[in-house]
Amino acid sequence: MAPRPVVADLRSDTVTRPTDAMRAAMVDAPVGDDVYGEDPTVARLEERVAALLGHEAALFMPTGSMANQVGLRLHAGPGQEVITDHLAHVLRAELGAAAAYSGITTRSWVADRGLLDVDTALEVMVADGGPYQVSTACVVVENTHNFGGGTVQPIEDMRRLREATAAAGVGVHLDGARLWNAHVATGVALSDYGACADTVSVCLSKGLGAPVGSLLASSAARVAQARVWRKRLGGGMRQVGILAAAGLHALDHHVERLAEDHARTRRAAEALADAVPGSVDPASVETNILVVDVAAGAWTGPGLVAAAAEQGVLGYPTDVRHARFVWHLDVDDAMTDHAAERLSRLLAAGPGE
Ligand SMILES: Cc1ncc(COP(=O)(O)O)c(C=O)c1O
Repeated sequence: MAPRPVVADLRSDTVTRPTDAMRAAMVDAPVGDDVYGEDPTVARLEERVAALLGHEAALFMPTGSMANQVGLRLHAGPGQEVITDHLAHVLRAELGAAAAYSGITTRSWVADRGLLDVDTALEVMVADGGPYQVSTACVVVENTHNFGGGTVQPIEDMRRLREATAAAGVGVHLDGARLWNAHVATGVALSDYGACADTVSVCLSKGLGAPVGSLLASSAARVAQARVWRKRLGGGMRQVGILAAAGLHALDHHVERLAEDHARTRRAAEALADAVPGSVDPASVETNILVVDVAAGAWTGPGLVAAAAEQGVLGYPTDVRHARFVWHLDVDDAMTDHAAERLSRLLAAGPGE
């Protein structure tokens, strides 16, 4: 039997297509050669994001991975280490870039739902390893946490980590690919989150719905260094104001609406929890990402994702026991209800023979 047409593409919030209004903003954008620092739209975006995050400067990057990896490179070089939780995007999904590009080693700890565990982070951290141990140059915090299930990191914990690491001379990098979602979910100002890190990456191409683009924010001196690393890695871009314009449009129109994605995700989570208790804890669904524990329905992650695709609902198996479904700009109420109903039925029925 041919698979049904896709009804809800919940693989990631990266799958959105630019709206007509966003495309119109891109067409009208004034541009220049950004490698020469001459693109006025890029400059506007960089200034605006730096101000939002409470940092001196920001740099437009093609991807979140590059923003993270350039950020890490500013903290650590060959033979130094970066530490973070075992589900962090920088460890799991950037293809070993910290080792491949920067000679950085990593250590991690197991974190429930990717939630920041300050005490463990500080235990793992070796501020000055002398000639015997690897010295920790940087701790990475991911907010919200992707593979953890859209987990919001409490601002008090971020502040505590920041104070303790600063006292020890260790840096903090905030992977804020979805910091917008944390801000909308909690009401905590972006600049309050920004104050908890030396370097911050944010993405425009996820929940905000831009086709491309991320930024790295930090001090003016660090951003000047980041500009060199970006070019070195092949990320110097030219008349890229047409893409920055999409980001500016997203900041104007797509931040507050993230609350709609969060509400739909919560609604789907409640339906699944009703259908198969233990598959989801709705109280832990804080933003736009739903991670289902498929073992409660005797599935494997890849098995449930394949069966759901047959029903027109696309997800992503994060590991053998978990499947992830992500809400975004291109998913409405009807798609949400369809997805929740199909997933509930599949989970309740189990994989069968
Ligand atoms: C938390 C997090 N950081 C960084 C990235 C990397 O972004 P990009 O795909 O633009 O490289 C992602 C992508 O999904 C992410 O979820």
